[in-house]
Amino acid sequence: MSSTTSQRPRVLTGDTPTGRLHLGHWVGSVERRVQLQHEYDCYFLLANMHAFTTRFDRTGEIRQDTLEIVKDWIAAGIDPDVATIVLQTEVPAIAELTWYFSMLLSFKDVMGNPTLVHELKTKGLEEKHSFGFPMYTVGQCADILAFRPVCIPVGEDQEPHIEMCRKVARKFDQLYCGVSDRTADADYERSGGLFPIPRALIGRVARLPGIGDGSQKMSKSLGNAIFLSDSAKEIQKKVNRITTGRQSPTEPGDPDNVLFKFVEAFISDQGRVAELKDRYARGDNLGDGHVKQELAAAIDALLAPMRARRERFERPDGDAMILDIIKAGTRRANLVAEETLFLAKKAMNMDFGRRTLG
Ligand code: TRP
Repeated sequence: MSSTTSQRPRVLTGDTPTGRLHLGHWVGSVERRVQLQHEYDCYFLLANMHAFTTRFDRTGEIRQDTLEIVKDWIAAGIDPDVATIVLQTEVPAIAELTWYFSMLLSFKDVMGNPTLVHELKTKGLEEKHSFGFPMYTVGQCADILAFRPVCIPVGEDQEPHIEMCRKVARKFDQLYCGVSDRTADADYERSGGLFPIPRALIGRVARLPGIGDGSQKMSKSLGNAIFLSDSAKEIQKKVNRITTGRQSPTEPGDPDNVLFKFVEAFISDQGRVAELKDRYARGDNLGDGHVKQELAAAIDALLAPMRARRERFERPDGDAMILDIIKAGTRRANLVAEETLFLAKKAMNMDFGRRTLG
């Protein structure tokens, strides 16, 4: 049993700092984190090393995005006194475990990872990506297993990474801890394995469409995102850009269209949602404009407290406060990650003395 932290089971997840968080991040994973932080010992990782896959030539941007995402997390309700915020590049155990784990996966396992394949394709990098790019997928296994968590709240697109991580955990436990390959996933630790086989926890809404016609998922780079930091006015303006093709309030509408995907995701009163759907479907004098107004109000009610919590970081000393939070969290995180690395090395006959980070 760990002597370093609370006895609550651990949860880990993270984000690559690529800019501001939007509503897709909220319903996909961030909302879950805010709930889980009180029940579990939670670690939220800033995957700044992963940002090097696409921006190794723009490191100043990576640094600023890393600070910004912490502001978004705290604005969203993650409490750094309750959950631990971890900076990947200051947790050396992650980089070390990546090396060992890379031996437990075949080259094909890595290069065939559907999320990686999709990413290289959409970024036009299939023929020219760096040697290091695919490495982030192995690194993600180390991000996770360094904390030996029971589960990982993530969006649907991360599932292949979690599957790879589970494969690594099983392989390590079988090879170095003598766990039988017939062991059920839930029993690995009990059977002597160092690593639990962690589960993905997929968010409430697996795929939130972007504003527009809803054919694309919400994404900053596609310019169809509502950001957690948007003002009431920006929210209304963006919501108005959702298009359904419906002509009039008396035309029977499709209560499954892009507008209603948003209604379902953000209007919490289920009775009201059912009523809107029913009237919309019947063409009972309910215009898109009216639905959009109600939707924008609901989104604003969600985001207004976030804007308020963000304010204290928008002062000149805001970045310094964030840096202190990151340092304190990373110090706590290193206690767990160093213990994991020590135990892993011991299992691999590589225990040549325990070290402490200064
Ligand atoms: N790859 C994830 C993303 O792009 C970010 C990430 C890095 C992550 N390490 C992680 C997510 C560990 C979950 C667990 O969103």
